[in-house]
Amino acid sequence: MAPTELLVPAVLLGLANHVYFKRYEPTNAHTPLFFLIAQPLGLTYLVSGSLSVSNILLATATFIGTLSTSIVAYRLSPWHPLAHIPGPMLAKVSKWWGVKLAISGNRARFMKEQHDRYGDVIRMGPNEVSIVHADAVRSILGTGGLQKGSYYEPFSDATLPSKSIVNLKGDMHDNRRRIWNRGMSSESLRGYEGILAIRLEQLLDRLDEIAKTPKAELDISEWISYLTFDFMGDMAFGGGFNMLLDGGDKDGMWGVIKLGVKATSILAHVNWIVPTFNMIPGLNEITDRLRRFGSENAGRRIKSGPKETRDLWYHLMDEDSHEKVKPTLPEVLVDGVFAIVAGSDTSSGALNAFMWCMLTHPDIYARVQAEVDSVYPDPQTLFDSEKHGELKLLTACFHESLRLFPPVASGGPRQVPIGESRIVAGQYIPEHTQIFLPPYAIQRSPKHYFPAPDTFDPERWLRASSETDADNSKEILNHNTFLAFSYGAANCAAKHLAWREIIMVASALFRRYNFEFAKSGTPLQTTRWDESLGDYYVTEAEKLLVHITRRD
Ligand code: HEM
Repeated sequence: MAPTELLVPAVLLGLANHVYFKRYEPTNAHTPLFFLIAQPLGLTYLVSGSLSVSNILLATATFIGTLSTSIVAYRLSPWHPLAHIPGPMLAKVSKWWGVKLAISGNRARFMKEQHDRYGDVIRMGPNEVSIVHADAVRSILGTGGLQKGSYYEPFSDATLPSKSIVNLKGDMHDNRRRIWNRGMSSESLRGYEGILAIRLEQLLDRLDEIAKTPKAELDISEWISYLTFDFMGDMAFGGGFNMLLDGGDKDGMWGVIKLGVKATSILAHVNWIVPTFNMIPGLNEITDRLRRFGSENAGRRIKSGPKETRDLWYHLMDEDSHEKVKPTLPEVLVDGVFAIVAGSDTSSGALNAFMWCMLTHPDIYARVQAEVDSVYPDPQTLFDSEKHGELKLLTACFHESLRLFPPVASGGPRQVPIGESRIVAGQYIPEHTQIFLPPYAIQRSPKHYFPAPDTFDPERWLRASSETDADNSKEILNHNTFLAFSYGAANCAAKHLAWREIIMVASALFRRYNFEFAKSGTPLQTTRWDESLGDYYVTEAEKLLVHITRRD
């Protein structure tokens, strides 16, 4: 047999595979991999009657070459349903490019650059777009919008019988969210303030000790993380973590949780590979530890019984029997673990960005401190959130730092269902497309925040402003595009708790201490700290080194 006789069938097989994969997307990596290896082998045997190495190589190269070329050509062709949407070429070709971008931690910044270059709607993957147009907020995230995309699937542990709230859709989400909302009522929030106050006292005690040392320097972001993590542990499982008292992540759990979310946020771009990953011994160590962590803490919380002060577990478990059908233990367990992720990294991210904005704007910092002093002349009242409404400048500073540095910087996508399409921001978006509304890019768009959208200007939140202006001459502040807590039915379930927490912590810190950048810090640990921010659904950053002195 002439080797060329293999070429035509191998090309046809490659094209047939493209047609198949276009219709039936893989749900894992091992099955397609098996068939991608087996098919050219079978073809070689069928056509040549033997399995000579040279024929196998020829058939495999032709088959894989045709399949890859056909996929790339189609994705870049004018026949692709997203061909009309501009974007970086490599993004259109493969999601593996998206994985590389996600690993860099630069996804949010990159998306903003691409929007600046190409406009409001850009293509960020073969079947993925990113939109920064204001209309998209309501039409995608609001009532009648879209459900969460397949990107979220790996965020749930497939071996558990229940998914966490962030991964639920439709009625199942609404039911779970109803329970969460009860846990976030004004009455519940008052109860949580007491839990937070205890942890905040611990933080202040530890900072007092550091302030007494000769150098009095510390990584403030680290101590803020200890506080938010301990607090979320108290909320979700009635305690169990003592990073503030231990002065660190003694059993490494915080590191494991962050690594787990980071890895998941990267792999979620090629989520079909995750089931294969989970089959490889050793690679699912993180998931195993998280599972053990959840069940150990849930077990401890159940054993200790209802707390005097109602924590989040109390509500999630429906310990006061509001629900006809009680939530199951796995449901509460996964939500408890999720609360720790969702509630600690975001709040510490918000507080760290706020601190950095203050330290880089000493004039505003001085005014915020004066405001805190006047609202809380008696430091004993600092844990009373009733007065938060009077902290106008401090709140504006948080709005502004959350605008510039939203903790979930790229957001998570929604997806157009199969068999449907949408017109969003005047663009046709076909079935199956995942749509990102990246808070970082949206909140820095001059169409929504003008002038100086990249500049820290908290007073923009205090001035009267118009929403839109055709010639961009007037100030613009479009509240609808403030997405740091997302928007709609699946926005942050604990937005009000988060606001109380960050304001209370910032007030307490400013009332008691003066902060300035540490002399020993590198630029990335001080003045240029913002450049070190990496976006992995959780935030990664350099240390934020400060010098601390007590004010009294
Ligand atoms: C400043 C602090 C916070 C920020 C900026 C923030 C931001 C967000 C964002 C952007 C989302 C949507 C995520 C997505 O769609 O993928 C979200 C969801 C969520 N957050 Fe927060 N969050 C904060 C604090 C908290 C806290 C303290 C908790 C407490 C337990 C919490 C619980 C949740 C929950 C349960 C969801 C999922 C809601 C749902 O799917 O219905 N968050 N948060």
